[in-house]
Amino acid sequence: MSNNITIVGLQWGDEGKGKLTDFYSENAAAIVRFQGGNNAGHTVIVNDKTYKFNIMPSGVLHGKLAVIGNGVVLNMSRLIEEITALRADFEITPKNLLVSENAALIIPGLHPEMDAIFEGASGKAAVGTTKRGIGPAYMDKIGRFAIKAGDLLFPDSLPEKVDRLLFLHNAIRRGCGEKEASASHILDYLNECGEALSPFIGNVGQRLYEIKKSGGRIIFEGAQGSMLDIDHGSFPMVTSSNTIAAQASIGTGVPPSEIGFVLGIVKAYTTRVGNGFFPTELNDEVGEYLGKAGSEIGVTTGRSRRCGWFDAPLAARSAYLSGVNGAVITKLDVLDELSEIKVCVGYEIDGEKVPFLFNAKDEAMSKVVPIYETLPGWKTSIKGMKNLADLPTNARRYLDFIEKHIGVRIIAVSTGPERSETIEISKPVLR
Ligand code: IMP
Repeated sequence: MSNNITIVGLQWGDEGKGKLTDFYSENAAAIVRFQGGNNAGHTVIVNDKTYKFNIMPSGVLHGKLAVIGNGVVLNMSRLIEEITALRADFEITPKNLLVSENAALIIPGLHPEMDAIFEGASGKAAVGTTKRGIGPAYMDKIGRFAIKAGDLLFPDSLPEKVDRLLFLHNAIRRGCGEKEASASHILDYLNECGEALSPFIGNVGQRLYEIKKSGGRIIFEGAQGSMLDIDHGSFPMVTSSNTIAAQASIGTGVPPSEIGFVLGIVKAYTTRVGNGFFPTELNDEVGEYLGKAGSEIGVTTGRSRRCGWFDAPLAARSAYLSGVNGAVITKLDVLDELSEIKVCVGYEIDGEKVPFLFNAKDEAMSKVVPIYETLPGWKTSIKGMKNLADLPTNARRYLDFIEKHIGVRIIAVSTGPERSETIEISKPVLR
């Protein structure tokens, strides 16, 4: 049985996956990103020092092999910035960083600009993207126009590939009244980044196969959340990649049997950045409290996150989609000061109960009314607790309630941002 771990978010992202990836990386050989790009934002605090990553897998702080898989869209200048910043404290060499030759590139000046143009033209239908060029870069990948990291190893082939890419982009830019992009600028950028990154570019599938053969553990680190999945999320208000566990296989080149233990990360309440339905959203002082107490500001864009009560059907659906084997509840301490805590346990439309699975579309979901159960709060600080037995009875009751309603065993609880502020209940091991 595989001893790998795949970490996915069960809400709309920002569940605290970075901290947990870091927490579980100690015994791992490699930490691998398999989708998304620098739209993700991970904050990891180690020894009072805060590290913010957009693209680098979180576990790099343990000196493990950090891998960027083929399913990622790669902004090379951002990666170079992160490598440079990390080099103040860590050695980053081809021994501990590998970039898939098949990762499609996000090209500054093309993809982020197209993202901004599309968003700007969409009015009320705008997704509220991070404007990092994620959607346009995946468009080019699926349309087979993309330039991939491995192309940088063959600089002589680049002019033709850039011309082909610009045939498409400049047609769109002309149509949108924008200035055409220059091939020579893009070539200079690609060659410059190629020089810096080519030692890191290689065959990810092969390397992961070798790690598996030698018995090493691989951690697949998901970005965004299940509700932002391009196929199974709240389309069109989603990101442009598949965010559920199955993508760990497709986005890295390992078979589905190597996904291993699927760990679902879920916040003790719900947040969302960007537009789209959010049945348990709170536009009142409790919502404000959650935002403040939980520091709910986006790492990537600095935007305030929308906040609401825990939505159990939503988390249960996400857990089902990824075949989650164990859940981690994060930010439980954020609820410390509330005297009552509500949990959504179902939905109704016009007084009729509806299951979540029926439709994740905005048109239907924006009509649902959550059915709540109210639990008593614990009104005491649990910040930094490390033992389940130390939690107040009402906090334990809240966890039991969530566990029952999402149908997944809780294997850990996070009680603060530091790696040490974690209650470990059981190990992420397939039985
Ligand atoms: P994009 O991924 O930049 O195209 O943005 C699409 C949607 O996904 C927007 O609603 C973003 O706010 C959201 N999104 C993208 N990345 C993250 C993330 O890491 N956390 C939370 N939301 C995200």
